[in-house]
Amino acid sequence: MTFGSFIDRFIRPLLVVGGIVPAIVLVTRLVTGTLGANPAEELEHSTGFTALVFLLVSLSATPMRRLTGVAQFTRLRKPLGLWAFAYAVLHMLCYLVFDQSLLWGEILNDIIKRPYITVGFAAFLILLVLAVTSPTRVMKRLGGKRWQKLHRLAYVAAVLAVFHFLWLVKLDITRPAIAAAVLIVLLAMRRPKRERGGEPQPELTAGV
Ligand code: HEM
Repeated sequence: MTFGSFIDRFIRPLLVVGGIVPAIVLVTRLVTGTLGANPAEELEHSTGFTALVFLLVSLSATPMRRLTGVAQFTRLRKPLGLWAFAYAVLHMLCYLVFDQSLLWGEILNDIIKRPYITVGFAAFLILLVLAVTSPTRVMKRLGGKRWQKLHRLAYVAAVLAVFHFLWLVKLDITRPAIAAAVLIVLLAMRRPKRERGGEPQPELTAGV
């Protein structure tokens, strides 16, 4: 069996189902009372962080394909991107319920007035658009080229999410700085080889 078919037959199905694991861990910690002194805050932070990790890993699919020549890496992008969106939804729900008690006026005010919330909200909207347009039938309706262009917005969502993270951390910026470094590497690797002085490469889709 080639590594490509190993990805298709085992890694992809495992990922489709396995993305639920961080949520199961969170629910287990909630039920067993091991979420710490402030469970609501822990839920909000963990879901936000998990969304960002899935998003960054989804963006590594194209560089992995370029580095290894294994085309099947790009087939991991969609499940990874959809899990990023799912955790972003949970993250936003935590914010709406725990932070704002569903007071829509306050929420609107927060989105307009607090830059890190504005940026997080913009990232969320992009992930929403990418998730809605992720089914193959939508891709066919939009046309491959237009769909590819649209799905490059996954990089914009990642940039916004990293800014959101950098902005909200007050003391120890180690984790957002690592996320920013990973994103910079991914963006640098995304540039077509031509620009980096190598052979021309066809443009590839990004994201969800
Ligand atoms: C409507 C959209 C969003 C809102 C309102 C929002 C709001 C928040 C809030 C209130 C916090 C906690 C801040 C604090 O306690 O100081 C937070 C943390 C965070 N958010 Fe968001 N966020 C949104 C979207 C996103 C998205 C789309 C991502 C990633 C894809 C994301 C990633 C994170 C991360 C990584 C953290 C920090 C987690 C940690 O400290 O471990 N957020 N967000």
